[in-house]
Amino acid sequence: MTIRIYEVGPRDGLQNESIAIATADKARFIAMLADAGLAEIETTSFVSPSAIPQLADADDLLATLDRRSGVRYPVLVPNMRGLERAERAGADAIAVFTAATDAFTTRNIGMTVDRSIETFRPVVAEALQRGWWTRSYVSTAFGCPYTGRVEPGAAVDVAIRLIDLGVDEVCFGDTIGVGVPSQVTELVSRALDAGIASDRLAFHFHDTRGTALANVAAGLAAGIGCFDASTGGTGGCPYAPGAAGNLATEDLVYLLDGMGYEHGVSLAGVLEAARFITGVLGRPLASKVGQAGGWDPSIGASIGGAAART
Ligand code: COA
Ligand code: ZN
Repeated sequence: MTIRIYEVGPRDGLQNESIAIATADKARFIAMLADAGLAEIETTSFVSPSAIPQLADADDLLATLDRRSGVRYPVLVPNMRGLERAERAGADAIAVFTAATDAFTTRNIGMTVDRSIETFRPVVAEALQRGWWTRSYVSTAFGCPYTGRVEPGAAVDVAIRLIDLGVDEVCFGDTIGVGVPSQVTELVSRALDAGIASDRLAFHFHDTRGTALANVAAGLAAGIGCFDASTGGTGGCPYAPGAAGNLATEDLVYLLDGMGYEHGVSLAGVLEAARFITGVLGRPLASKVGQAGGWDPSIGASIGGAAART
């Protein structure tokens, strides 16, 4: 089975960083991700620049990006205004984003879940009419930083409403990294029971409590074929306190390689991009595989990790 690795580093990874990152460095990072074989790279967000100052250069970044054929560059769009900006910059793939709880959407996008669905209705309709690829997020699918536990039925209800809008894919986000594998299994089973095909489902795990790869393994066992990850393990949502630590792409690639899944991504290439972006951020590369490197079973040695370089 071929697994899609959906890279969120340039968007989710960088959106919460307070230091100014040059548009040229973002473009270089995105080029390195494409060089590594990543075929879906979430590039930026066409949101309010006062909500997410780090991505205020979205128009310029997307319009000037050297886009490779065969690579999809989705962008986050919260409303019609975002769609218009995205179109002017040449987008052909978007992601709309809501959550399983009103408390989270109200803080993140200033709308209830109901209102977000109504806001997305014309956005998705326009995008589909133009033949764009469309994804949607259900954040806080396992737990909300403001209201606590989220029942799987609540997350699936929102997913069904998004599928009814016509989106190609729904991605369940564990925004604050509280989910465990048994919950992943349960959520997939509920979504399938509700009639959502497994090839329209994706997962976005955070490794905040060390459960991200275990959750991926549960997703794989349940037949899910798309997982989000952030090269270098950077990122988190500013409206989700404690949401540090997207699953690192290098950790995901190592797991998939070891389990024998095809995915088309080079671990060495991801590690190079991870070193580049953590260098720009002035931080050491903290992911597990960034530290330890990959592993060559024919000689028993680590390859490409921080240890090998010192
Ligand atoms: N692009 C740029 N600016 C936008 C915009 C867009 N897509 N949509 C709205 N704005 C501007 C408005 O013009 C207004 O600007 P002003 O303050 O200079 O007048 C401001 O943003 C607020 O707009 P308003 O319509 O009153 O909505 P709001 O304050 O309820 O904000 C969102 C709604 C969705 C625009 C805002 O909450 C947002 O951008 N959130 C993004 C959050 C995010 O990306 N989180 C991380 C992903 S998990
Ligand atoms: Zn994330």
